[in-house]
Amino acid sequence: MKIITSLFCVISLAAISAYGWGANGHEAVGYVAMQFLAPNALSFVQSSLGSTYSESLGPAATWADDVKSSKAYSWSAILHFVDANDDPPTSCSVSQSRDCADNQCILGAIANYTTRVVDTSLSADQRQEALKFIDHFIGDIGQPLHVEAVAAGGNGISIKCNGATSNLHSVWDSGLINKLLSSNYDNSVTTWANTLATRIKSGAYQSLAAPWISCSSTTATASIQTDISNLLSKRAITPLQCPLVWAEDSNSFDCSYVFSYTSFTDLCTSDYYTNAVPIIETQIAKQGYRLAAWLNVLFDGAINLP
Ligand SMILES: *[C@@H]1O[C@H](CO)[C@@H](O)[C@H](O)[C@H]1NC(C)=O
Ligand SMILES: [Zn+2]
Repeated sequence: MKIITSLFCVISLAAISAYGWGANGHEAVGYVAMQFLAPNALSFVQSSLGSTYSESLGPAATWADDVKSSKAYSWSAILHFVDANDDPPTSCSVSQSRDCADNQCILGAIANYTTRVVDTSLSADQRQEALKFIDHFIGDIGQPLHVEAVAAGGNGISIKCNGATSNLHSVWDSGLINKLLSSNYDNSVTTWANTLATRIKSGAYQSLAAPWISCSSTTATASIQTDISNLLSKRAITPLQCPLVWAEDSNSFDCSYVFSYTSFTDLCTSDYYTNAVPIIETQIAKQGYRLAAWLNVLFDGAINLP
């Protein structure tokens, strides 16, 4: 939040960053995850979410955005992102100590709600809340501009989308996704999510899926299992490796692609859109698969994925 130096920025951040990934992106992450849950994870998800959310991580994924501007949940708004104070497109990086002081960012939030969702001393409502936060934050962490401090994650960068004035953050949350859904998926989030899940099971993503959940990077060797067992044995919020690797992964697109447009191009009707589509589809599929793996290790003790 260092970037916020003027009242104008404060107002624009509050006014424009109402949604991460947009409702469609979040629901797609949840629906992809539903196709990969192990038995105990599935049964907890169904009973915890109940009929309010059609027993599904799809509809439940947007709750955290729905409440963050309400008074009761205003404290949660800063948990939807990590302000990576790097320098894209020249150099990209995420640092827990530099960018997530006192765990008050998406990295700390994933750790906190992971301990809470399995804490049997909490009420059913508190555990449902924890599940909805995990569902949402594992989606947000895959959006490159939720892992970037520049201009408040691109909220302060004015660009064009479909002829209208928008901002870079919003275009990545929803402008590009809405165009994709109307062009290729009949405006159906479930058709989109089913397509992505099929690519993981037997298509273009099949060979990528194992690396997506391996949590290895140039700076870390870890696994979902070691993260979860450290977290649960310490019963405290400890820095996690996998969410950091996932954050680094999406942050890397801030150097490789997100800022590569030329001024005055319409990002939603140009080559920028065409080349953004494979990145967005991969990020949504990845985060859905990672969400399932995370919950499977937590509730079933094993990744249990194809
Ligand atoms: C963990 O989540 C609970 C419930 O939202 C919150 O009260 C608490 O402050 C959080 N802890 C940290 C360290 O963020
Ligand atoms: Zn969000």
